[in-house]
Amino acid sequence: MEGKTINNQIKKVLISEEQIQNRVSELAKEINRDYSGKKIHLVSILKGATIFASDLMRKLEVPVTIDFISVSSYGNSTESSGVVRIIKDLDHPIEGREILLVEDIVDTGLTLKYIQGILLAHKPKSLKTCVFLDKYERRQVDLKIDYTGFIIPNEFVVGYGLDFAERYRNLTFLGILKEDEYT
Ligand code: IMP
Repeated sequence: MEGKTINNQIKKVLISEEQIQNRVSELAKEINRDYSGKKIHLVSILKGATIFASDLMRKLEVPVTIDFISVSSYGNSTESSGVVRIIKDLDHPIEGREILLVEDIVDTGLTLKYIQGILLAHKPKSLKTCVFLDKYERRQVDLKIDYTGFIIPNEFVVGYGLDFAERYRNLTFLGILKEDEYT
């Protein structure tokens, strides 16, 4: 990998920076409308959703606060281990609050289903979920998702917060990694 620039490790740009920013603005518009007169407490899942959550929250016009939760998921592999465990819990109580859970990508749905269950057990006033990407064809569990950025095909993607082995999160676009980068 040494000596290569990031862009020649990417096979294809799936979603450009401009498309991402336009879609985030559209989502924010919808959320602003739906939460008019209310306050939103965002719960962002570490680490992948942080870039999306920070862009989204800057476009929200209703009062907004944010907290973070972290669970284990993929490690360094591109296949889901099915192991979901809390690594970092929320800092603030969510009981009685309007919670908007923000996630980078839903694949099998196991991670999100688990986190939705944890949050609901704390009795928020409402719980909605906003995901940047949905690999719909991979879904293994039934899930309620209220806002979706893009539905994407079953390819391993990186950028805009999503990583492979902790790299590529800083790409401003969403790309598909060349296979020789992870095989
Ligand atoms: P799920 O539990 O199978 O839905 O997996 C969700 C988690 O897997 C996400 O939070 C991501 O961390 C990771 N993930 C799934 N697909 C991708 C991908 O294409 N690129 C990077 N991470 C992914």
